[in-house]
Amino acid sequence: GTVSLWGGRFSGKPAEALAALSVSTHFDFRLAELDIAGSRAHARQLVAVGILSEDEGERLCAGLDRLRDRVVSGDFAPQPGDEDVHTALERGLLEELGEELGGKLRAGRSRNDQIATLIRMYLRIEARHLADRVLALIDAILTQARGAGDAIMPGRTHLQHAQPVLVAHHLAAHAWPLVRDIERWCDWDRRADESPYGSAALAGNTLGMDAQAIAADLGFSSCAPNSIDATAARDVVTEFSFIAAQIGVDVSRLCEEIIIWNTKEFGYVTLDDAFATGSSIMPQKKNPDVAELGRGKAARLIGDLTSLLSLLKGLPLAYDRDLQEDKEPVFDQIDTLDVLLPAVSGMVETMRLNLARMEELAPQGFSLATDIAEWLVRQGMAFRRAHEVAGACVARAEARGIDLDELSDAEFADIDPALTPEVREVLTCRGSVQSRNGVSGTAPEAVARQLNALEERLTPL
Ligand code: ARG
Repeated sequence: GTVSLWGGRFSGKPAEALAALSVSTHFDFRLAELDIAGSRAHARQLVAVGILSEDEGERLCAGLDRLRDRVVSGDFAPQPGDEDVHTALERGLLEELGEELGGKLRAGRSRNDQIATLIRMYLRIEARHLADRVLALIDAILTQARGAGDAIMPGRTHLQHAQPVLVAHHLAAHAWPLVRDIERWCDWDRRADESPYGSAALAGNTLGMDAQAIAADLGFSSCAPNSIDATAARDVVTEFSFIAAQIGVDVSRLCEEIIIWNTKEFGYVTLDDAFATGSSIMPQKKNPDVAELGRGKAARLIGDLTSLLSLLKGLPLAYDRDLQEDKEPVFDQIDTLDVLLPAVSGMVETMRLNLARMEELAPQGFSLATDIAEWLVRQGMAFRRAHEVAGACVARAEARGIDLDELSDAEFADIDPALTPEVREVLTCRGSVQSRNGVSGTAPEAVARQLNALEERLTPL
């Protein structure tokens, strides 16, 4: 039957409409195993402070273990009368142990410190799992980068041809933000590593329980220093959520590029059949749906973060029931990334890069104009003037419908006497990329070092 956690001062049962609004088991029951772990740690403390005898403590823990097995096997599930995961499990425990012993567990704790602890435990587990999924995507990107060797492609700003870059350099630029996202989770984890358990409803518990011991039992390094903050704060959720949203944004940029690269006009990539979809009417179609969903899922990941921030804005201390609404958005982010990341990894892993096409387009669009200007600077010309001279070369080539390297020696000399035939050294994409050999640059040796440095930065949570 239904278990109510209060009743003493109430004369009637809650209205059905209240119960329907209040219920959260359909989303918070995923915390059931962690709730039971918390209860076990709590029971041990109740023994330590003498509220429970040794024997009662053992029977309670055995009952909790049986309940956990029933949860895992699916034999125990929430019922319509259960309000939340905590109420559902209390019903289960009373079924296992009877009212007398089962009713002793709740001393000294509140659902407020319970839920604040459980959400941290859950997010810490999921952060590790999702970080592994992000690592797998980084791995897929790096494999493509290494496979591209020294191939060159058009580097773009404003989506216009800018300067030639190594394909590997460009691909790795999609991996670095993901490396930082994992590092963000590592950093977040230090702040999440504090247990609110023992804070009770808001003011702390009166039973002398050792919150530090419970924290250690539940895998936390320490217990939270302020019980009011510990039960009311959810910045641990919003910060996790920001990282999830940022991953969505980073993945969406990669996906957008793949969508563009996959067009007939670009022709940079061929998607594997397993990661492309067809059209129900147009037989020729092969669509990049995975990449489009990657772009689209970013919207809900951002929306979830926005929901959470809006939820918390202006809430007074301490616990307010509004806080129950923190779960669905962050659970949605977890579930979304859990299906999105493997699909994007698979698409990246299996796509074929058309390196010849990229190389063919690399010198187009006057992408070597900066190289002319910088060559002139090396000959002693002021950059301001060199920029103008190189611009004049572009204008001349554009007017004739040719590329920069097709200008004749006489034309170069006519534009400016400083433009001797030696300028042709920098009028190849190969020469252009090789000259950008600074730490972060696109020269092949620099990029090789960057790929190694990136691999060294990869650490699981
Ligand atoms: N289900 C609630 C939540 O998720 C925890 C219960 C606290 N409820 C309360 N009325 N004090 O936040």
